[in-house]
Amino acid sequence: MSVPPRLSVIGTGYLGATHAVCMVELGYEVIGLDVDKAKIDRLIAGEVPFFEPELPELLKKHIDGGRLRFTTSYAEAAEFADVHFVCVGTPQRAGELAADMTYVEAAFASLAPHLTRKVLVVGKSTVPAGTAVRMEEVLHDLAPCPDVELAWNPEFLREGFAVQDTLRPDRLVMGVHSEWAEQQLRATFEPVIAAGTPVVVTDFATAELVKVAANSFLATKISFINAMAEVCETTGADVTKLADAIGYDARIGRRFLNAGLGFGGGCLPKDIRAFIARAGELGVDQAVSFLHEVDSINLRRRARTVDIGLDLLDGSYRGARVAALGAAFKPNSDDVRESPALDVASAIARREGTVVVYDPEAVENARRSHPELTYVASLEDALDQADIVFLLTEWDEFKNMHPGVVGKLVAQRNIVDGRNVLDPLRWRAAGWQYRALGRP
Ligand code: UDX
Repeated sequence: MSVPPRLSVIGTGYLGATHAVCMVELGYEVIGLDVDKAKIDRLIAGEVPFFEPELPELLKKHIDGGRLRFTTSYAEAAEFADVHFVCVGTPQRAGELAADMTYVEAAFASLAPHLTRKVLVVGKSTVPAGTAVRMEEVLHDLAPCPDVELAWNPEFLREGFAVQDTLRPDRLVMGVHSEWAEQQLRATFEPVIAAGTPVVVTDFATAELVKVAANSFLATKISFINAMAEVCETTGADVTKLADAIGYDARIGRRFLNAGLGFGGGCLPKDIRAFIARAGELGVDQAVSFLHEVDSINLRRRARTVDIGLDLLDGSYRGARVAALGAAFKPNSDDVRESPALDVASAIARREGTVVVYDPEAVENARRSHPELTYVASLEDALDQADIVFLLTEWDEFKNMHPGVVGKLVAQRNIVDGRNVLDPLRWRAAGWQYRALGRP
């Protein structure tokens, strides 16, 4: 590599902070920018504002090493970097299916007027089809340098594995309009490409679509097995064995076939909804109408979980003490966006159950989004005198519970395994009424 490009990362939320830190780990000099000064101050102090394994250590290492800095100034970022990554969020618009594009539009509009030399701007945010072309126009209209170029490079990182997914991605997708843009991007990911990562070079429209298509497929796979779980519940079959058996077929594969409470988080639910909305605008709604069903199957699992608990409590939650184990949308994360666990906990609270929630990492975020629930600081406190236990997020701490030991803490030995991670035989042998989704 000749002189490696210097990078800016605009938006230091989940994606941006991880990307900034990992690009320094890969050998680049990076400046991270956010309009939220409080967030920038925390990052400068070496503090990661969310839970993500490995990231805090890497952040400290690179701040101390002097190759990573942070700013709130677009002028400073523009002065510094040859390649700018736009990593701001595209959350679901309140009351609509569509994505909120305000942050993406603001990032491009704020950066462009400072671009006085030929640089590459790279969109990483998950966006509806057609966004890249619009943002290219913004750059052409607002950047003083007429040669500024755009590329689209979607990000596929999973929470909990964000660092590894960024350092060693499954693939790199490069949506470009020129040879120069492709070469710049290749120089920006040189160590990743040298490690053998496949590169798929595309146009803008394909690059935008890759991300939503991937997430739609994953959501569909989960909802498929959860639909099978519904069938299992009436036929007496076991969905976990079914998943093992069909998963041995390499064409199907066992990953993402875990039936249970279904998917949540900041990506899968909002991405399939935004896709439905955009397809509608483009007049191809029929092509993705199945995603409505994927969404409904997913949401039905939550209602079913509440009903199973009702069964165990003879038809009423009123006055029952309910231990809700888990608040995060998945383990190894403190993210509670669209969390199935919190949805179930609040549905039970609405039915007048006394719900006590425990999560190893997500309590602080959960309290903010669901202040109506009661939170405790330990598993033991949650289980204390419980009439029923719900396992809602499959943290190791819950998977490793000993049925005999926790049985001594509760008032009644009722458990609903919302993630199919406990051994029914073992729990029943210890005197528990064990119920799960899609499993006898
Ligand atoms: C997802 C995609 O995996 C990632 O590639 C994309 O960039 C962002 O969205 P993430 O939201 O971090 O990542 O979580 P993921 O591990 O995909 O899990 C999503 C949800 O599906 C979780 O709620 C999880 O509990 C659920 N899930 C996952 C299942 O219910 N069953 C499974 O078999 C797998």
